[in-house]
Amino acid sequence: MATTTSPIGRGTPRVDGPAKVSGTAKYTSDFHFPGMLYAVPVGATIANGRVVKLDIAAAQAMPGVRAIFHRENIGKIFRSVPQPGFAGVCKERRPPFDDDVVRYYGQYVALAVADTFEAAKAAADAVRVTYKAEKPNVDTQLTAEDDPDVVSTTFGPQHRLQSQRGDAEKAFASAPIKLDQTYVTPHETHNPIELHATIAIWDGPRLTLYDSTQGVVNFRILAQVFGLPTENVRVISRFLGSGFGGKLFPWTHSALAAAAARQLGKPIKLVVSRKMMFETVGHRPRTQQRVRLGASPEGKLLSLQHDYVYDRSMLDDHHEDCGEATPYHYSVPNLRLAFGRARRNIGAGADMRGPGAVPGLYATESAMNELADQLKIDPVKLRIINEPKIDEGLGIPFSSRHVLECFQLGAEKFGWSRRTPEVGSMKRDGLTLGWGMAGCAWIAGRFDAEASVELRDDGTARVACATQDIGTGTYTNLAQLASDRTGVPLGKIEVALGDTALPPGPISGGSMATSSVVPAVFAAADSAIGSLLEIATMTPGSPFERRKRSDLAYEGGRVFVKADGPAKGVQFDDLLRRASLRLVTGNGKSEATFGNPNAKFSTHSFGCHFVEVTWQPEIARLRVSRVVTVIDAGRILNPLAGRNQIEGSVVMGIGMALLEHTTYDPQNGAPINSNLADYVVAVNADAPHIDVHFVDFPDRQINELGARGIGEIGLAGFAAAVTAAVHHATGVRVRELPVKIEDLLA
Ligand code: MOS
Repeated sequence: MATTTSPIGRGTPRVDGPAKVSGTAKYTSDFHFPGMLYAVPVGATIANGRVVKLDIAAAQAMPGVRAIFHRENIGKIFRSVPQPGFAGVCKERRPPFDDDVVRYYGQYVALAVADTFEAAKAAADAVRVTYKAEKPNVDTQLTAEDDPDVVSTTFGPQHRLQSQRGDAEKAFASAPIKLDQTYVTPHETHNPIELHATIAIWDGPRLTLYDSTQGVVNFRILAQVFGLPTENVRVISRFLGSGFGGKLFPWTHSALAAAAARQLGKPIKLVVSRKMMFETVGHRPRTQQRVRLGASPEGKLLSLQHDYVYDRSMLDDHHEDCGEATPYHYSVPNLRLAFGRARRNIGAGADMRGPGAVPGLYATESAMNELADQLKIDPVKLRIINEPKIDEGLGIPFSSRHVLECFQLGAEKFGWSRRTPEVGSMKRDGLTLGWGMAGCAWIAGRFDAEASVELRDDGTARVACATQDIGTGTYTNLAQLASDRTGVPLGKIEVALGDTALPPGPISGGSMATSSVVPAVFAAADSAIGSLLEIATMTPGSPFERRKRSDLAYEGGRVFVKADGPAKGVQFDDLLRRASLRLVTGNGKSEATFGNPNAKFSTHSFGCHFVEVTWQPEIARLRVSRVVTVIDAGRILNPLAGRNQIEGSVVMGIGMALLEHTTYDPQNGAPINSNLADYVVAVNADAPHIDVHFVDFPDRQINELGARGIGEIGLAGFAAAVTAAVHHATGVRVRELPVKIEDLLA
């Protein structure tokens, strides 16, 4: 029961904040073990061809070098089969060193192991590789390949015709107003501050991995890779410097570190370099999306067609679901949504913050903004006209949808009614202003989760779950949930995360970690409290001895007789001490709702962005100067961390709209801007005042608290709001991200 002292819904500073700012929080590469060696991979310098010869003699002879591993001496690395429920997905399925074929630039072809990182790096650089190279295919123009109607993807088979209703082509042909445009989003690379890192330690047939992962449980798929029972693999990830989706799945370097450690019988540390982060650990695929809208002159959508193509690696099947939001985002009687794919000589694609929906909504929300201009209807009004009553894609109601409230609040906070629609018509301090907006949506749901809660005789509690905190505030969330249920203050709650030795928990992904753990933690706390009440009735000398358990209640840390009220109660730690118990434990479990084909409700989060840009044509200077974002994500467990997530997404959205793109060299297939000087991400200097609001309607279908998730939604739709603002300021319609200065000079 939420009491008045419950921290739920209160802005709660990070419980792990002091550990982080004092440097005592240990990230993967901070761990050291006796006898530990360092590994540095050798990446291919071609993107298509074969390894003809590997000359390791010079490298092997270098001081401090323990081994140079390659295809012939690394030992067996098996393939793996994905397990249900995100418990074992590898985005790159080919085991490292599996054959001599090179399919992308940077693919690992050897691994140097030495006493120090520096020696390993020098040895890796000294390995001489002879290739038979062929011209790589890294074409940016994407043409869908001749795939069958149903294709395999990382998460199972997918119909390429994803959704269909009415007759979209016919309705488009006869629509009085038509829009037909193609939008392009580039490859983007995950750039968390913390590099991918692995430490592999073998103890006989048992493998412990310290890894920078968003899913310790998912990582146990490495048991298959080494032919071990699952319980023989323990994965630890105590703190992460974020991941943005790039760390959801094990990559080949983790398997290589473990394989090398097995061969040498020593712990091995492998930290992926920033350059390799652009080559071997995933990226958001490039997308090319054709959107066709048919409408009445009043702005009612009559037809929506969304056809998209994305690229992927030569062997893998990451699915970039740009159509995730398309079937339900607007009311439209005729709709067709389909995708195609094109293989390229680049590394495996992967989920990146708001996978699919983020590039997808950039396209469809841009099309809506263009349609509004074409119709001379305000873009907010156009969206209101087409607001759906139910999820028309699935034909079921939304669990909770408050899009109109978001528009209203956002428009009011931004001052949208003062917008004059003519291009270049708004000025301030000698700058041209552009105002644009867009809507956003993201899936909500729960993964399987288990948790344990302990009440202890010193008045403290512990909550544990094998999920992890990627920096979003999961430690704090679990403390809040446990505090709410047990009445133990936040400062007396220990949170244990990031270790497969704990009860299995969800990936930190899909914006679902929080919504997933709520019922599990509550059930665990209730179970611990239930045991405590049982103990209270059985402990000799307890004031509740021989009472019936059903006469007792627990609130705010106290056990009491219901009829007497909590004032006459006894603190739980007091009871435990009287019973000579150090602790009482409860376990809780909750089941996934995500992916349920029989769902009665469509569960999503929603929102909208209002964006102002300033434009100085004299010096071609474009800045995002003001943002109002309103989010409908159910109840907000921690508004402080929640706002932080949305602000972070908005900054990332500025990067997506104006800066970020990974460019592959057509000659050798290398990502040519594979560093943080040339791959420009938005930083504080790019971030304006960001005004974030939550409408805070609890979604009772998702969990008892009504809390959905907020990790990704703030990025969805944002780039479309920016490009609309850019058009409003400059008159230039940019349909290929990012917006470049040269686009605006044309
Ligand atoms: Mo998110 S792309 O599920 O980390």
